[in-house]
Amino acid sequence: MKAPATAAERTRDAGVPWRTALITGATAGIGLAFAQAGARDGANLVLVARDGERLAEIAERLRAEHGVEVACLAADLRTVAGLDRVEARLRDPGAPIDLLVNNAGTGTRGAFHTLPVEAELDVVALGAVAVVRLCRAALAPMVERGSGWIVNVSSLAGFQPDPLTATYGAAKAFSLSLSEALYEEVRGSGVHVTALCPSFTATEFHRRAGIDVSRVPARAWLPAERVARAGLRAVERGRPVCVPGAAYRLLAALSTVAPRRVARFGSRLFAGAR
Ligand SMILES: NC(=O)c1ccc[n+]([C@@H]2O[C@H](COP(=O)([O-])OP(=O)(O)OC[C@H]3O[C@@H](n4cnc5c(N)ncnc54)[C@H](OP(=O)(O)O)[C@@H]3O)[C@@H](O)[C@H]2O)c1
Repeated sequence: MKAPATAAERTRDAGVPWRTALITGATAGIGLAFAQAGARDGANLVLVARDGERLAEIAERLRAEHGVEVACLAADLRTVAGLDRVEARLRDPGAPIDLLVNNAGTGTRGAFHTLPVEAELDVVALGAVAVVRLCRAALAPMVERGSGWIVNVSSLAGFQPDPLTATYGAAKAFSLSLSEALYEEVRGSGVHVTALCPSFTATEFHRRAGIDVSRVPARAWLPAERVARAGLRAVERGRPVCVPGAAYRLLAALSTVAPRRVARFGSRLFAGAR
């Protein structure tokens, strides 16, 4: 009887170049879908989120179903201590991380002047500060090795100013811009950086943030698995930006070419409609 394929043989058979992936926000939604897709391809995983019990359950399931190594790092990425722990893992020369997925994120909705400032700062902490720190920690050893892949989960919201989700849109614009700049900086080095910019994706995000999405039509939602797969394909192919879904790609293209005042006005109409 043929011996079961090792994790390394499976990443080779799946055609993916990374052996070990670190994914933040891996216990739910898009991050969990990245973890499942990575494990299916045979990659070993380091999963990051705050809820240690949930991390351990997911790790156990992925090990059992896919025979890959899964380590858990319980860390709150809004804190210096949490970021220090994840950075240390990214810099560990004895166990290189080939693929980093900066996915953990949170949101708010409402008129900016009425929202609690702490919640706005959490959006910035996860969507901008953590992305800078983890990209910085991962990128240096990747460039030195001459290989590596980074996916920053931004959003379609990053393409234009977003009234009623102002801080969220600004944080996502930051991560989109940072990703594209890093893409250019490391071009040709063997390291690839991709901004993944989904629109409505069926996850825990809106419920956790207390955002009412009852007026968003069912056809607007993308499955998290499709979004994660699109992100993995894009970074593997060396694409700087990935917008899953043809209609959303069109919207992103329109936001890019439209005069700023038109994009702003469209975004205001859209914000009022949901
Ligand atoms: N869903 C959408 O419609 C949508 C659209 C565009 C972009 N995005 C982006 O996609 C990314 C993932 O969102 P999602 O929709 O998958 O959200 P989700 O289902 O709410 O999952 C969020 C994940 O992030 C983790 N997390 C939250 N706060 C954290 C913290 N302080 N430190 C460490 N981990 C933390 C959560 O685990 P713990 O609670 O255990 O920490 C969870 O694993 C976000 O960056 C979001 O902005 C989402």
